[in-house]
Amino acid sequence: MVNLTCEYRNNPLGIDVVQPRLSWQLQSNRRGVRQAAYRIIAALAEAVLQDQSQLLWDSGRVDTDESVHVPYGGPALVSGQRVYWKVIVWDESGNQAESQPAWWEMGLLDRADWQGEWVGAPFFGGPRTTSPAPYLRREFMVVKPVAKARLYATAVGLYECHLNGVCIGEDVLTPGWTDYNKRVQYQVYDITELINQGSNAIGAILGDGWAVGHLAWVGRQRYVDRPRFLAQIAITYTDGSKQTFATSSSWKVTTGPILESDMLMGESYDARRELAGWDLPAYDDSQWHPVEMLAGTNANLVATNGPTVQRQEELRAVKIHLVPDFVNPRWIFDFGQNMVGWVRLRVNGPAGTTVSIRHSETLNPDGTLYTANLRTARNTDYYTLKGEGEEIWEPRFTFHGFRYVEIHGFPSEPTDDTVTGIVVHSDTPTTGTFECSDPMINQLQSNIVWGQKGNFVDVPTDCPQRDERLGWLGDAQVFISTAVFNKDVAGFFTKWVKDLEDAQYENGAYPAVAPNPAAWSIPEGGPAWADAGMIIPWTVYQHYRDTRILETHYASMSRFVDFLIATSRDNLRCYEEYEGWHGFGDWLALDGSDGREGGTSKELLGTAFFAYSTGLIAKIARLLGKTSDAERFETLSNAVREAFLRNYVNSDGTIIGDTQTSYVLALHFDLLPEELRPAAAAELVRNIQQRDNHLSTGFIGTPYINWVLSEAGYFDTAYALLKQTTWPSWLYSVTQGATTIWERWDGWTHDKGFQDPSMNSFNHYAYGAIGAWLYAAVGGIDLDPESPGYKHIIMKPQPGSDLSCAKAELKSIYGLIRSAWTLDNGRFEWQITIPANSTATIFIPVRDNCKVLEGEIAAGDAVGVTALRREADVAAYQLISGDYHFTTQD
Ligand code: BGC
Repeated sequence: MVNLTCEYRNNPLGIDVVQPRLSWQLQSNRRGVRQAAYRIIAALAEAVLQDQSQLLWDSGRVDTDESVHVPYGGPALVSGQRVYWKVIVWDESGNQAESQPAWWEMGLLDRADWQGEWVGAPFFGGPRTTSPAPYLRREFMVVKPVAKARLYATAVGLYECHLNGVCIGEDVLTPGWTDYNKRVQYQVYDITELINQGSNAIGAILGDGWAVGHLAWVGRQRYVDRPRFLAQIAITYTDGSKQTFATSSSWKVTTGPILESDMLMGESYDARRELAGWDLPAYDDSQWHPVEMLAGTNANLVATNGPTVQRQEELRAVKIHLVPDFVNPRWIFDFGQNMVGWVRLRVNGPAGTTVSIRHSETLNPDGTLYTANLRTARNTDYYTLKGEGEEIWEPRFTFHGFRYVEIHGFPSEPTDDTVTGIVVHSDTPTTGTFECSDPMINQLQSNIVWGQKGNFVDVPTDCPQRDERLGWLGDAQVFISTAVFNKDVAGFFTKWVKDLEDAQYENGAYPAVAPNPAAWSIPEGGPAWADAGMIIPWTVYQHYRDTRILETHYASMSRFVDFLIATSRDNLRCYEEYEGWHGFGDWLALDGSDGREGGTSKELLGTAFFAYSTGLIAKIARLLGKTSDAERFETLSNAVREAFLRNYVNSDGTIIGDTQTSYVLALHFDLLPEELRPAAAAELVRNIQQRDNHLSTGFIGTPYINWVLSEAGYFDTAYALLKQTTWPSWLYSVTQGATTIWERWDGWTHDKGFQDPSMNSFNHYAYGAIGAWLYAAVGGIDLDPESPGYKHIIMKPQPGSDLSCAKAELKSIYGLIRSAWTLDNGRFEWQITIPANSTATIFIPVRDNCKVLEGEIAAGDAVGVTALRREADVAAYQLISGDYHFTTQD
C-alpha cells in the first residue's frame, strides 16, 4: 500500500477534523488487483502498531473494496493528540499486505486550549497609508529535556515566526485568507528540534495582508486597523510534564527594516534598519515597547486542514535589456513566463542606495513596462542597501503577477543572477499532465496550468496582478473541472467551500466573491456565480469521491434553493421585472451578452442554472438518503426545465437569442427533450460556422461548448474551434506569445492593440476551462458520474484534426490513470493504465472492418478484457486494473 493520507494529506500536523478520513492506494503490476477487505489499526505510539497490545482503534476486518475516505472510528481525540495508523489489505485472491505506519496530529480543538492573547503594535497606518511592520519578541527558559514542542500561531493580518534565529516552517502569507470575523486559520509547526536547553527567543514579524492592507479597489483596513498576532508554544518534557508559553503583555514590539508591506502595492525594505539578532536569546530589547493588547476576533480559530501557500519553483530571467533613457536608466528582466510571486534580489553596493523593482505582465511596443492594466496596484518593491557586501533579499508580505521586472537604481550592471523569480502558490501537488502532437495546444495546456498556479493563492482568484485578486465564484466554478485534473485541489476547495458558507447571505444567496470583504456592494452572485455554491462541492465529490463535503454543505445548499424559489417567478430566475440583481450574464461574451444589448438573455441564463443547480441538489439529496427532499428538488428542477422549454425553445429546436451560449447551456444542462437535441446541436454548429469557426461565448458558454459538440458527434467542429488561431479562439493568445490565459479573447490585437486597461488581465484562468475537455475528449480520461473518484473510469479518446498523438495522465485517488495514443497511417495504438482497485470502460475508435488487437492477442481472449459492444465507430470493452496496449488495424 502506498500514499496513505488523512484528510487528503500525508501525515498532517494539526488538523481539527474530529473524525478524519483515511485513504490508501493499492499498487501492483498484476492485472485485476482489487481490495477484498481491509483492517485499520491505530495507536497513540508507533511501537504499539507492532505489538498491537494497546490499540486505540482496530477496525477489524472489513470486507469491502472501499479504500478511500474511511472515517476514523476510534474514541474521540483530544487537542494535540498524535495518532499512528496502518492498514492491512487482502486482495481478491486472499493475499495480504501491510502498509508502513502513517500518522496525523490533532490541532487545538477548543477555544479554551488557547492560552495566549492577541498582541500587536501601538502604532498603525490609516485608511490610506500603511505603517512599518511590527517585530515582536519574547524570551523564555527551558530547563528540562524536551520530548516534543509545537508552535500554534495565527494572525489577523500576516505573520512570519522565528525561533532562536530560524524562520519557522515553509509557509508564506499565513494564516491565509478567510472572513476574519468568522473563521481564522491557525498553523501548527513541529519545533522540537529548535528549542534550546536554557534561554530561547520567539519572534514574529507582522504584515498587513488581506486583513489590513489594500484589498481589491475597496481600500485598506477592511477587517481590522492593524495586524494582530496570537501564538503559543506547547512543550511536553521527557518527564511527561507540560508547559506553555503564549503571547501576552510581556511581549515586546518595535519596528525594523520593513517600512511597508501591502499585497497590492508592494514591500519597502531598508536593510540599514535591520535588527541583527532580534530573534536570538540575549538580544537587548530594552528600547522596544510593550506590545499593545488588542481586541482579538470573535471568529472561530480553525486548523489549516487544506494546503498552505509556499514557494514552489524558481525561474531565471531569459532576457535582460536596458531601457536607454539617459535620465532614468532601467533594466528589464524577462522571465519568459507570466508568473505569480516575487523576485529574490542579489545586490552589492553602497549603503543607502535604493533599488526599485517594478512588475508587469507585458511590455509596451517601445520595450518599457506596460502597467496600465494593473489599475491602482503599484506592484513595486523597494530595497535600500546596508552596504555590507552581497545582500540577498525577498519580500515577505506581498505578491505580484508578472513576467517582467524593471530594476531601477541598481548600483552596477546587473547579471542574470541579479533577480530570481520565486513562484508562490497554494501547495497543491501536480496530479495531471496532458500533451499531444500540436505544440500550440501544448502551450495552451501550459498556459492553463500557469493560470492555475498563479490564481490559487489560498483562495481561487480571478487574477493575481491588478487591484482585484478576489475569489470570484463564477470564475472558480467554470474552472474547477479543469483544476481537478491538473492538481490535487481537494483540500484547497474544501477550505474554500467553507469560505462560501461564511459568505452566504441571510436570505440564502451566495455572494459574487468569497471571502466577501465587508462593504461589498453586489447583493448576490447571480446566475453562474452564486451557483458555485452547488457546483464546487459537487465537483469535489465527483473527482475525489468525497461525500462528506456534500453532507457538511447540504444545509447551506438547500438555503440557496430557498432563495432561488423566493426570488423566481413562474420558475424563471432573473425574470425581466425582477428588481434584484440579474447577474453578470455570459460575462465578456462577444455577442453582447455582457449585460449590454443582445446576446444570451440573463433570464435564460438564470433559468438554465436554476434547473441545473436544483438538479444537482436533487442528486445530492438522493445520495445522502434524503428521499423526500430529493423528490421535492426533482419536481422543482423538472418544473424549471419545463419553464425553460416553454419560454425559450421553439418547436424546431431553435432557441431565442440564437447565441452559442444559449444552445450550449440547453444541451449541456439537458434542458431539451431528446427529439429536439439534434436540431439544437445543428443550430449551434451553424452559428459557429457562420462565424467561420470562431467562438462568441463568454465565461459561461465557453467551458462547455466543446463537450456539447463532441457529445453530439460534431468532432470536426470541436476540433476546428480548438485549432482556430485567429481571435476569438483559445489559440489566438498563444500565437501572440501568451504564457497564461487572458481575461479577454482580445486582450491585445493587431488592429486595436491593448484592450481597455480598466479590465484587461493577462492571467485569468476562466477561459482555461477547456482543459478538462483536453484531458477527457482528446486524452481519453473521463469520470463515470455513477462511480465517482475514478473508481470506474470512462476512457474515450476522440482523435481528430491532424493530431497524431495525445497522452493524458491523472494521479487519481486510486492511483495513476494513463492514456496515451498514437495514430500513424491508419494504425491506432493505445496504451492504458488502470490503477489497482479500479475498473474502466474503454471505447476504441474503429473504422468499418478494422480489427482490435490487445498486444498480440485477439481482444476477446485477453486477460481482464471483456468485449462489450461494437458500433460503427467505436468498440467498447470493460477492463480490470492493469496496463494494456491496444492496436487497431484496417
Ligand atoms: C473579474 C471577473 C469576475 C467579474 C464579475 C471581474 O472584475 O475579474 O473575472 O468574474 O468581475 O463579472
